[in-house]
Amino acid sequence: MRGKLRFGLIGCGVISGTHVAAIQRVGGELAACADVVPERARTLANAWGADVYDDYREMLRRGDIDVVTICTPSGMHADMAVEASRRKKHVIVEKPMDITLAKADRMIEACRENGVKLAVISQHRFDPSTVYLRQAVAEGRLGTLALGDASVKWFRSQAYYDSGEWRGTWALDGGGALMNQAIHTVDLLQHIMGDVTSIRANMATVGHARIEVEDVATATVKFRSGALGTIVATTCAYPGLSARLEVHGSEGSAVIDSDKLVYFKTGTEQRGYEAPEAPGTDGVGNAAAAANPGGLNVWAHEQQVRDMIEAIREDREPLVNGEEGRKPLRIILALYHAARTGQTVELR
Ligand SMILES: NC(=O)c1ccc[n+]([C@@H]2O[C@H](COP(=O)([O-])OP(=O)(O)OC[C@H]3O[C@@H](n4cnc5c(N)ncnc54)[C@H](O)[C@@H]3O)[C@@H](O)[C@H]2O)c1
Repeated sequence: MRGKLRFGLIGCGVISGTHVAAIQRVGGELAACADVVPERARTLANAWGADVYDDYREMLRRGDIDVVTICTPSGMHADMAVEASRRKKHVIVEKPMDITLAKADRMIEACRENGVKLAVISQHRFDPSTVYLRQAVAEGRLGTLALGDASVKWFRSQAYYDSGEWRGTWALDGGGALMNQAIHTVDLLQHIMGDVTSIRANMATVGHARIEVEDVATATVKFRSGALGTIVATTCAYPGLSARLEVHGSEGSAVIDSDKLVYFKTGTEQRGYEAPEAPGTDGVGNAAAAANPGGLNVWAHEQQVRDMIEAIREDREPLVNGEEGRKPLRIILALYHAARTGQTVELR
């Protein structure tokens, strides 16, 4: 495929501007955007000279759009992705890819059948801190892994949940502090520690009046390697602290805090402290997102959109394809089941 790839974007709310900036930075072109609130689509489109649709299906009929980026409420993703794949558009979909495994599988299947690529946004996999730590673990520099802790202590006000009818609902958000906010850190936990095979959990709604979903959850997990771990997530930690991943092994420990590798020490390495960081972020990406959902840095999305463009041009899988995007969703759904039943859920 030659020339600029042309993008169509569905859902012109909070995260859409990050995608449009990323598309522009990687040399793509925003051809059109669609939103059921046409004013939102118009505001975004006007800034970029793109066309506006209030019905995304009409936009998908265009033959000159190569990639469709889906930024709508989470429980709508699969239907839109399936429709886009039928129109032979490659698909970038925001996290979570949808809110059930059945719908996730339907998306994966449809994209495969239609010969288009599917990329699920998990932008922090591209952070230099994540890449560095994963490589260090793979090389055995931390020894035998014993413990992995994912903890997201963020704050979302009631006004945040009230800002969209879908927010905080099981039907369209699919969950709360875990499914919407902590999913990034849960994904990094499994990306670095390996498969989760068993979960025990508790969850509650304590700090918000008008939401259905959990705003606090705790879990203990076992990994296939034999290591143990914890997952802690809340949107009640005023004023919004950090998203943190801690990994401990027989020969070393590492801590990523708000996207930065703030601690890295191994028994054999003199260099006890490393802090690779995304260029120009000053670590503000996740730190800002701790209290403000719109406070994201574009850099990590840019890396993932670039990876998708390269995947299309090289005809390879994007780094976070459907199967990879499904992994944190599976863990979170299992965690919900464990919390509701009080039972240990095994994942084989
Ligand atoms: N990767 C990240 O860090 C990150 C950050 C924020 C949000 N997200 C994800 O992005 C998605 C959107 O979140 P948001 O905060 O931008 O939501 P939002 O409510 O601000 O925006 C969603 C938009 O979709 C539109 N929409 C709803 N139904 C539609 C339809 N049928 N056709 C076209 N448009 C429709 C709404 O009018 C709204 O403008 C969610 O899945 C969320 O989890 C990801």
